Amino acid sequence: MSHADDHAGTGEGTRRDFLYYATAGAGAVAGGAAVWPLINQMNPSADVQALSSIFVDISAVEVGTQLTVKWLGKPVFIRRRTPEEIEAARATAVTELPDGLSENANKPGTDAADENRSLDEAGEWLVMMGVCTHLGCVPLGDGAGEFGGWFCPCHGSHYDQSGRIRKGPAPRNLPIPVATFIDESTIKLG
Ligand code: FES
Repeated sequence: MSHADDHAGTGEGTRRDFLYYATAGAGAVAGGAAVWPLINQMNPSADVQALSSIFVDISAVEVGTQLTVKWLGKPVFIRRRTPEEIEAARATAVTELPDGLSENANKPGTDAADENRSLDEAGEWLVMMGVCTHLGCVPLGDGAGEFGGWFCPCHGSHYDQSGRIRKGPAPRNLPIPVATFIDESTIKLG
């Protein structure tokens, strides 16, 4: 007689069920404990939200200059463009661009026309991550490169006055983060 036969019809099934449910119950508790932090991360507390948004005073930024601020550990370029820069950026056809998307978190899915990249309609303010889309170096600004915008010295990527990639190994335009004007001298990032 086998061990199983010996226990057939003696309540073994009931004991097994009890063990099964006890184990499942413990699993559910453990699962709950593991899932909770993830849910918590999806509902960031006020102090976490405050850390992920910053307010930048742009009142001292002159036309033709750039302010670089650090946000979430990365540089963000805030450039106040000259009329000439705006004109050149807006005169470029999207069909000439290697990356035809705006890469603008404020206008997802739009094309790379300069109107879809500047923060204001007139095009004076350009806010972008200062991180080369090739391998992450910080591009040089103030009209650097062959297209009057930014130049990444690491491997020679040229970005235009709108921060759009024009030449070199970088595959995408400099990304534009979520940004809004709070008032005429303050930009909120995030
Ligand atoms: S990291 Fe900018 S060109 Fe390679």
